[in-house]
Amino acid sequence: MEVIILDNQEQVSQFAANYVASRILKKPRIVLGLPTGSSPLGMYKKLIDKYQQGILDFSEVITFNLDEYVGIVPGHSQSYNSYMYKNFFNFVNIKPHNINIPDGLVADFDNYCKKYEQYIEDCGGIDLQILGIGRTGHIGFNEPSSSLGSRTRIKTLTESTRQDNARFFNSIDEVPHHVITMGIGSILDSKECMLIAFGEHKAESIAAMVEGCISSMLPASALQFHPSIKVVIDSAAASKLKNKEYYKFVYDNKPAWQYV
Ligand code: F6R
Repeated sequence: MEVIILDNQEQVSQFAANYVASRILKKPRIVLGLPTGSSPLGMYKKLIDKYQQGILDFSEVITFNLDEYVGIVPGHSQSYNSYMYKNFFNFVNIKPHNINIPDGLVADFDNYCKKYEQYIEDCGGIDLQILGIGRTGHIGFNEPSSSLGSRTRIKTLTESTRQDNARFFNSIDEVPHHVITMGIGSILDSKECMLIAFGEHKAESIAAMVEGCISSMLPASALQFHPSIKVVIDSAAASKLKNKEYYKFVYDNKPAWQYV
């Protein structure tokens, strides 16, 4: 794991946007795995800026979103489908047929989830998977006890995640209990991962993910198996890491040959 500790949220978003941009410039037909939530908002804004400045072209980019609520229509103000269009897709030249967001309303979930996985594979697999992390240590909506080999499927949200997400709804009663999410195994199959987080409320799950034992009770810890993962965090989210000085030294002294 490469742990990159920056001063604040703004720097994390800037780093993430620059990194995604560099990957798109290198491979215009890149396959991106995308999250929703508050963590990637700054990154999306900066990617939009780069598009508007003529630095980036999304016309070949293919995206797969990590997750969606079950039982709410794509046009619902709090669906992840709406989030993606409101915060990103409406402002760049991505082609609608290259956008893939799980459908939380299908009749045959088993079959649909298998097809979602198959389509990722047909597109060549995810080149760069961007992730946030929940207070429960979830990635995507793989809550504690998720199998570390899991694939896209239906999951039940924990009460703590429902409470965290209630801020986007009128009341907690409106937050769905069920979601469709790419699995831990699906995420680990991506060629490269970048997890972004900021704020003290993420410090515990970041420390457990980076320095704790690998356990399905902290699903993000499975990322320790990933051969190419960047964890980009601010100093508040890094505050509970035991080895933060070492990670800072490694990053500040990164030899040129390690940049790919
Ligand atoms: C959302 C997702 C979740 C979030 C996580 C953090 O698509 O995959 O794992 O990344 O819940 O959410 P925020 O960024 O709102 O703290």
